[in-house]
Amino acid sequence: MCGIFAYLNYLTPKSRHEVLDLLLNGLKRLEYRGYDSTGVAIDSPQANDIVMVKRCGKVKVLEDAIAEHFSGKEYDEPVMTHVGIAHTRWATHGVPCETNSHPQRSDDENSFVVVHNGIVTNYKDVKTFLEKRGYIFESDTDTEVIAKLVHHLWKKHPGYSFRELVEQVIQQLEGAFAIAIKSKHFPGECVASRRGSPLLVGIKTKTRLSTDHIPILYGKDEKSPQTCEKDTEAQKTKVLPRTESTSEFMPLEEKEVEYFFASDASAVIEHTNRVIYLEDDDVAAVRDGTLSIHRLKKCLDDPHAREITTLKMEIQQIMKGNYDYFMLKEIFEQPESVVNTMRGRVRFDSKSVVLGGIKDFIPEIKRCRRLMLIGCGTSYHSAVATRQLLEELTELPVMVELASDFLDRNTPIFRDDVCFFISQSGETADSLMALRYCKQRGALIVGITNTVGSSICRESHCGVHINAGPEIGVASTKAYTSQFISLVMFALVMSEDRLSLQQRRLEIIQALYELPDRIRQVLKLDSQVQELAKDLFQHKSLLIMGRGYNFATCLEGALKVKELTYMHSEGIMAGELKHGPLALIDDRMPVMMIVLRDPVYIKCINALQQVTSRKGCPIIICEEGDEETKSYSSRSLEIPRTVDCLQGILTVIPMQLLSYHIAVLRGCDVDCPRNLAKSVTVE
Ligand code: G6P
Repeated sequence: MCGIFAYLNYLTPKSRHEVLDLLLNGLKRLEYRGYDSTGVAIDSPQANDIVMVKRCGKVKVLEDAIAEHFSGKEYDEPVMTHVGIAHTRWATHGVPCETNSHPQRSDDENSFVVVHNGIVTNYKDVKTFLEKRGYIFESDTDTEVIAKLVHHLWKKHPGYSFRELVEQVIQQLEGAFAIAIKSKHFPGECVASRRGSPLLVGIKTKTRLSTDHIPILYGKDEKSPQTCEKDTEAQKTKVLPRTESTSEFMPLEEKEVEYFFASDASAVIEHTNRVIYLEDDDVAAVRDGTLSIHRLKKCLDDPHAREITTLKMEIQQIMKGNYDYFMLKEIFEQPESVVNTMRGRVRFDSKSVVLGGIKDFIPEIKRCRRLMLIGCGTSYHSAVATRQLLEELTELPVMVELASDFLDRNTPIFRDDVCFFISQSGETADSLMALRYCKQRGALIVGITNTVGSSICRESHCGVHINAGPEIGVASTKAYTSQFISLVMFALVMSEDRLSLQQRRLEIIQALYELPDRIRQVLKLDSQVQELAKDLFQHKSLLIMGRGYNFATCLEGALKVKELTYMHSEGIMAGELKHGPLALIDDRMPVMMIVLRDPVYIKCINALQQVTSRKGCPIIICEEGDEETKSYSSRSLEIPRTVDCLQGILTVIPMQLLSYHIAVLRGCDVDCPRNLAKSVTVE
């Protein structure tokens, strides 16, 4: 959705130029989250002032503007303590333009400036409240109310600390947010908070950290959130709760320290691997170099401290290396990423599969009424791809649902349902809302995610981390194949003690063993795929047909083509061809057909004949050496043979490559397609 990055150096001298470089670099790492406008706010060399630079477009445009704007020598002077905040936006409220870019400010003087990811759903009420008190709004964003509300409370309660002011503000906000705020009235301080959108704090010290946990300071008062109007009275009488320490954990008191607030770990890994993942309604404040985490209410089972986690990510994982685009790198990483997904789980010697994250829940899952697989976009396609195998190996009814539609329908959910939430980011708002809906109704929640510490991860009862490594290209590739494998592994676990299924299980485990090599073979088709892209890139549309285990590849292939090339594309269930899509076929319509030697082969050949007899000339994806199938067309791609239920992994790769090459030929921005964002944290 949007990317937040903030940086605070305490007693670690840095020039403003260095700070700006850090902020820009952080934004570049987060650009996949949104890239229609950007902005930064830093302390001005003139005492007690904040300067902001905002631009429409990508981080590069901001970088150029900063080079022009901050050219003076004073920007080279080292500063002992400084706070800078930065943002890359994916517009939801208000078109992408400079005024709507973040940071948003409280007033002409830039007293309080804020960067925000998410949507404040009650912003109109808050705005009306503030307008009545004389505030004039300059942007169309929901975010501006946050900056102005802090300012309003600051005027009313001059004795409040920065952190206390932000605590009051978040009580008034509804919806989803991750925010970082800076103020000229509280120099050297930064306050950040989240509810529903991700946010973490990175900590960098010269010496070993003095603690592994940060104590949580809880409020004494259990006052529930109120609306702005109601709260004004409360504020007058100053009944606002304060927070105090109730913990045996040591606070973080480092002499020289740097803090990073970021939407995700890829933005901080080059600086530090020590991070704290904030939870909903945490307020993290840095003052005099000390980080504290506060919450207004304490529930019975709430922890006393937030753990400082050590990231396992490597810097190389978030670099492009020799590839032109992250997406291409991620496509070519698949022989390794699938191994990482299976590592320690599929034991090829004993032919067994163990999923540590759900092992204890398997007996409960086996007793369930049905399995529900829920996700959005590519993640949803991984559910479509594995449904048939799950039905076969679990012998349970399996429902596959798009999270948004699932919620629209108020789908009935029962206590004995098991609901899988599949999400690369673990933050997709529609999936998260559906998760909470199912959890409230007592279902068992299983998360399948690629992001440790994400909301879906934390809110699930159990889960499988797909371990695909950071995926930065907006169009998902390696996460899809790893989600696919995670669900296959689950099916194998569920069928472990079914005698009648042993042969089938062995066949699949063997195919999983051979899979990395098979993927390498498919990747060798790259130059052939590039040639096909040259034939296709000037067309307006591309139809992709298949059925059975390969229908998901048609949907996913068409999604990739749409996302990356802005060309129309449709995944068509070959069985439905005669019920409508056949009308589209003529000698000019580009068609791809997946025809493999599996149980639906004859039906696929029928569809192929229906297409060729209407003068269609499809590109066929078939099995290596299958001359008979190849003879139906002059253009084909041959993929190696594997077990039927894993074919989808091999057939999707040519589609990933094809969409990539068409996008390059059409001059599209492969890693950052227009109008899209990788992590959609709004409904
Ligand atoms: C966005 C992205 C898609 C992605 C979907 C689900 O729409 O553009 O590529 O598949 O979100 O994301 P998730 O992180 O939940 O897998």
